[in-house]
Amino acid sequence: MDITITKAKQVLGELRVPSDKSISHRSIILTSLAKGKSEIRNFLVAGDTLTTMSVYRSLGVNIHEKNGVITVEGVNLFGYKEPEDILDMGNSGTTTRLTLGVLAGQNFFSALTGDSSLRKRPMGRVTYPLREMNAKIDGRDEGNLLPLGVRGNNLSGIEFFNKKSSAQVKSAILLAGLLTEDKTCVVERVKSRDHTEKMLLGMGADITVEEENKEYKVCITGKKELSPVEIDVPADPSSAAFFAAAAAIVPDSEILLKDVLINPTRDGFFRKLREMGVEVLYLEEREKVGEKIADVLVKYSPDMKGIKITKEDIPSMVDEVPLLAIVATQAEGETVITGAEELRVKESDRIKAVVENLRRVGVEVEELEDGLIVKGKQKIKGGVVDSYNDHRIAMGFAVLGLISEEGITIKNADCVFISYPNFFEDLEKVIRR
Ligand code: S3P
Repeated sequence: MDITITKAKQVLGELRVPSDKSISHRSIILTSLAKGKSEIRNFLVAGDTLTTMSVYRSLGVNIHEKNGVITVEGVNLFGYKEPEDILDMGNSGTTTRLTLGVLAGQNFFSALTGDSSLRKRPMGRVTYPLREMNAKIDGRDEGNLLPLGVRGNNLSGIEFFNKKSSAQVKSAILLAGLLTEDKTCVVERVKSRDHTEKMLLGMGADITVEEENKEYKVCITGKKELSPVEIDVPADPSSAAFFAAAAAIVPDSEILLKDVLINPTRDGFFRKLREMGVEVLYLEEREKVGEKIADVLVKYSPDMKGIKITKEDIPSMVDEVPLLAIVATQAEGETVITGAEELRVKESDRIKAVVENLRRVGVEVEELEDGLIVKGKQKIKGGVVDSYNDHRIAMGFAVLGLISEEGITIKNADCVFISYPNFFEDLEKVIRR
């Protein structure tokens, strides 16, 4: 499906965007490890999280839905059943990497594959440290690429330095650590999203967190039963970001985004918008099941300034970097993004996708190995762009379409289903033409 987005006069109104993808994945995976029934409210119903649900059903976990509440009957740490067939991870890196940690310590064989994008993405960042814990994993490219086979084994603990600050890697190691009697620690120089450790703590895991001298360390001692929990998933800041960006670049706009997760490991995009001079207010800050949330108000800013984004900024806005580059086309002066090489191994090569698409709509941009440089105050002529089958690229360029002279057509836009099935409907709701 191709979609064309044309110029808007204004972006105005109020929205509760879909629930957080990271927390929704974890709400199924972690509660499946508990002993007993957990309840999840406001679970994200979208491509990636439905993949997680179906994978855990294939592992013998009863998961049902009634009146919008999902019940997961946790099987305890080692109660999964050997899957009869290959587990299909679809497009989801989070499902794959976290599940590798769980499967590595079971006493059965499992095989995993995914779609053509996922089969290109590096899994060695998880399988190699898991092998150090005694995991028996094999697959293409010496265990770096799907399909992968996992022969479950008795694991042992490790101390692991998470150089890329990847939350998926950290979570996989912690989940594997949960399956050993030893202590397992993950150290990070820049803290990555911490939902796994927060949720494990809430479920009674033997887990500790230390933050000192700019070093973050989380340790878990495993083989302790997890208690079931009730989870209420807040709105996803990565989805809210598209509407915040739209309000920031379309004249006279103002939008109120309700119930948004503002965990400091996730709200980097909102903080960077503020640094650019955009008015971004957190209203009614509150807590929901251990996570900070707020209603986020964003107003149009005619005087946005270009900024620098460096390596330390990336983890808390990793999925929003393409969108920031899009917003930066309207700022005064250059925006320089570096230290973002991880973008090359996401659902698409997001540096290449942004650079090529920006050029297609008439924007001058310089590609760097680890980022890009965007010139400010540029006219958006419009044209045809490619989603590269990447949901965040499709949504980002839809936002840019709102200030384009001739409209932007996004090829293969249905990929928004991965995280935000009703994105285009919600966008129409807040656009004034
Ligand atoms: C995620 C972590 C990030 C992010 C992804 C979701 C998670 O990936 O890009 O969309 O839920 O843990 P990395 O861990 O590879 O940085």
